[in-house]
Amino acid sequence: MRVDEATEDADLAALRGRAIQILRTNNRGGYTVPTDNLYPFQWNWDSAFCAMGVATFDVQRAWDELDSLYTGQWTNGFLPHIVFHQVVDSYYPGPDVWGADHVPRTSGISQPPITATAARFILARAGDDRASRARAAALYPKILALHDWWDRARDPEASGLVGVLHPWESGADNSPVWDRPLEATPATTTVFHRRDVALVDAAMRPRQWEYERYIYLVELYRGLGWDDARMWAQTPFKVADVGLNAILQRDERDLLALAERFGTPAEQQRLSERAARRRKGLERLWDEEAGAYYSLDLVSGQSLKIASHASFLPLWGGLDDPGRAQRLADELQRWVDLCAFGAPTMAPDSPEFDQRRYWRGPVWAIVNWMLGDGLARHGCGELARRLRADTRRLIQRNGFCEYYDPLSGEGLGGDTFSWTAAAGLAWAFD
Ligand code: DGY
Repeated sequence: MRVDEATEDADLAALRGRAIQILRTNNRGGYTVPTDNLYPFQWNWDSAFCAMGVATFDVQRAWDELDSLYTGQWTNGFLPHIVFHQVVDSYYPGPDVWGADHVPRTSGISQPPITATAARFILARAGDDRASRARAAALYPKILALHDWWDRARDPEASGLVGVLHPWESGADNSPVWDRPLEATPATTTVFHRRDVALVDAAMRPRQWEYERYIYLVELYRGLGWDDARMWAQTPFKVADVGLNAILQRDERDLLALAERFGTPAEQQRLSERAARRRKGLERLWDEEAGAYYSLDLVSGQSLKIASHASFLPLWGGLDDPGRAQRLADELQRWVDLCAFGAPTMAPDSPEFDQRRYWRGPVWAIVNWMLGDGLARHGCGELARRLRADTRRLIQRNGFCEYYDPLSGEGLGGDTFSWTAAAGLAWAFD
């Protein structure tokens, strides 16, 4: 072994050790908070990514993470984006604002579904042992119920595309892609007190303008009793987000693999048919002339012709056409080449790019993980390696932050962040 290789191994071992420590510190007894204070509960997709990170050092704890998340599942299969396991007042909007009728208390919107992908990942890490097979078999019907909910509640017309009814449901809260549909969304008249901007520089967070609409939507749906059909019919915000649909596609494929082991032939058949419908749905978001996937506003019927990191997530979802994968990779490479650290969440030469503001430009380790994995699966290994190396460099220089400035590398948002640690353990330091 060469000296520089030995140094790199020692660095990676130290980074792994630090990542494990973060995930242990953020464990609140069976579930992981994204970070202390700023996010003091269990968040849906954060938790699924954390489960994969935890699986690299404690498989049973990884299953506990997913089980704990599913204690928030409603009887209709819906899995909320937050499970409020404990009373903490450092977060707004808390359980009373959501007014959802469930124990433990929860929010009323969902988040990108990653739990089937996480369950398969944990099974593989466990070497498919008996204990893990039993845990996966017990979880499988709950994940199936979640996917049936997405299909029924968020694609009631069986178009093959699901719609998100709140920007938070996409996971990319303040992406510039939501600017237009949010302009058509009223602001709340309630006076509310944000806690996030007391904990993090306001220039790194969504603007007040957006929050007023986020809260309007929560209040509207609470008033509709969180009834899926009434929400779908009455919302001013309904978007077929390319990111959510691509992530759903991947999770559904992983669910089908679980169904082949733990499900019935009828469930397998249902999931295979749904997969075909989803592929056709995603195809409607492809713009051949632009060579890009764009989200679709389901209220106005307009394509939202703004590319973001989500436009590349079909690589994670799985593409049949290698030529199209290469076109996506070439454009992403162009974005990365304009930065010191890839991948930015918006094109650095686009008017909406804001290098420090949450989902309007910064680099996120979990996004790099999904893009890197997708690129590698489609034969674009060089760019995948670049994203992995950039993720390591960012963490090495600036710690396990929530997100990073793509131009300077500065760590932004919350620190000692769980899913950044998980992305390191399960992907970037692997
Ligand atoms: C937040 O509060 O910032 C979350 O992303 C939405 O749940």
